Amino acid sequence: MAKVPFLDLKLLNAPYMESLKEAASSVVESGWYIRGHYGEQFERAFAEYCGVKYAVGVGNGLDALTLMLRASMELGRLRAGDEILVPSNTYIATVLAVSAVGLKPVLVEPAENSYDMDPKRLKDACGARTRGILVVHLYGRLCAMDEICEFANEHGLLLFEDSAQAHGARLGDGRCAGSFGSAAAYSFYPTKNLGALGDAGMVLTNDTDIANAVRSLGNYGSEQKYVNMYKGVNSRLDEMQAALLLAKLPHLDECNDRRREIAARYCRDIKNDKVILPELPATPSEHVYHVFVIRLKSEEARDEMQKFLTAHGIGTLIHYPIPPHLQEAYAHEFSGEYPIAEAMAKTILSIPMSPVMTDDEVSEVIGAINEF
Ligand SMILES: Cc1ncc(COP(=O)(O)O)c(C=O)c1O
Repeated sequence: MAKVPFLDLKLLNAPYMESLKEAASSVVESGWYIRGHYGEQFERAFAEYCGVKYAVGVGNGLDALTLMLRASMELGRLRAGDEILVPSNTYIATVLAVSAVGLKPVLVEPAENSYDMDPKRLKDACGARTRGILVVHLYGRLCAMDEICEFANEHGLLLFEDSAQAHGARLGDGRCAGSFGSAAAYSFYPTKNLGALGDAGMVLTNDTDIANAVRSLGNYGSEQKYVNMYKGVNSRLDEMQAALLLAKLPHLDECNDRRREIAARYCRDIKNDKVILPELPATPSEHVYHVFVIRLKSEEARDEMQKFLTAHGIGTLIHYPIPPHLQEAYAHEFSGEYPIAEAMAKTILSIPMSPVMTDDEVSEVIGAINEF
């Protein structure tokens, strides 16, 4: 057993054990398990928390991404073959969703200080068939939304958000991840800042037509039983996950605050010339530190650091070791060069980050990194 595990899900849920058990038993006793009272309540609560009109629960984050794009296609706002700008250093799900619905992902390199899509690179990536931007608030840090929204408006592009890692990240004026564009996708995968005890996802939007289309697409393409408007899929948020998420939502802000506290300590106390720390955003609320990613100067140094920390009982992961354009699944699809994404994949390392980490555990991690 690691001294400081990368993430301990049982410990993460332990503070809510009683309310989770109560929520689960209410669902069992209700006799209603899909699309019911808890789903509706959680949709309303999360929409309100994010400051949007509609939330539609779906099966997982990948489905949320896929269905929000498909809804836009069914409504005639996007057509097969249209290009969507996505970051080159994202988790594969973002790219999979775009290609799954017949759109073309075009990769945009990140800014090195924020790890997020670089707004200065949007212009060059834009072509005659570019119709949308799908930003990813990677690692929990909001993208440069003012610049990106302005660019999308100026160029008549649809704006979508992959908010799977950024539950509760907000600009100084209170605008929340998931509230900026046509629609946004959330994942509640168990490791996320707001995590279910299984798979769950959600689409957020202020657009009634998108909300209705996503709800219908996730229910076999049907609004009215046995009447099918679209060739839909089965992707619905079940009552059990909705009830568990509803029990955890009131604690999300305090968990994010604790993550920020740990991040601030890492940035203050890690003192090792071999380590490049992430830049803190000007407004602390913009980052919810889903993961805390440091960088080293070379792949060898990163691998050595990872080995060193493992030997000291400290869990680490790499988010992500292979960028989408180098995956076998996309072997013949991207002809461009993406040196920043490639360099990041070789040099990044995610160190322990969780709201239930103790101060001593944080000190342990800092001590080991400084000793390296
Ligand atoms: C950025 C990003 N997008 C999409 C997803 C997909 O979510 P899920 O695992 O719920 O399908 C994830 C997480 O797994 C993610 O990190």
